[in-house]
Amino acid sequence: PVGSAPVIVAIDGPAGSGKSSVSKQVARRLGYGYLDTGAAYRALAWHALEHGIDTSDAASVLDVAGDFDYSISLDPDSYWVRVGATDVTEAIRDPRVTDAVSGVARVPVVRQTVNALFRALVAESRRAGVVIEGRDITTVVAPDAPVRILLTAAPEVRAARRSAEVTTQDAAAVAAALHKRDTSDSAVVDFLTAAPGVEVVDSTDLDFDQTVDAVLGVIRGALPRA
Ligand code: DC
Repeated sequence: PVGSAPVIVAIDGPAGSGKSSVSKQVARRLGYGYLDTGAAYRALAWHALEHGIDTSDAASVLDVAGDFDYSISLDPDSYWVRVGATDVTEAIRDPRVTDAVSGVARVPVVRQTVNALFRALVAESRRAGVVIEGRDITTVVAPDAPVRILLTAAPEVRAARRSAEVTTQDAAAVAAALHKRDTSDSAVVDFLTAAPGVEVVDSTDLDFDQTVDAVLGVIRGALPRA
């Protein structure tokens, strides 16, 4: 509603937990906005690669972060990500970007900058609520959110889901890349254990619709009018 801050639903979880597709569907069901924070880190990694910089070098990453002009849609029915005038919605899913993104996300100043962007984006939303998903939303970006969820799944299930999505690499390569990224990302934020007050939804034995229903159940438990 205009004039009041949107209700925040914060969802964290590892790659392949179903976090993005589930969060987007939950947002649709509630008529809320949807903010994919991983896409911001991916867009910055894409931007750094365009400039030919070494994404493992923090100083170079900071250099290109200075002129990073990024925009993202909050509409779950019309999702896009842009860097300047370039639509990078598809490009940021490229394995090249996926490999580079942890290096970019590791730089503390980068995290502070994108977190300020996320908070501003949410504040500008005119919807009743926004589902924000990432790795540190329940703990750093929106620790006061009325609903905070950690969406997990067993590593082998996550690897299998990811390899069904990524058709350009074989299953073993996808599993190895996922493990490498989890290890690297966990060094920055702990997204594998729930912080106090964060509800765990384990999707290991749930299909997509069941996971959406489980997340909606947690939200409606906390927000009866959602
Ligand atoms: O969710 P994803 O795979 O699109 O996220 C891409 C990368 O961004 C991931 O490797 C970790 C990082 N990330 C982060 O550090 N903090 C967030 N809130 C979201 C993503």
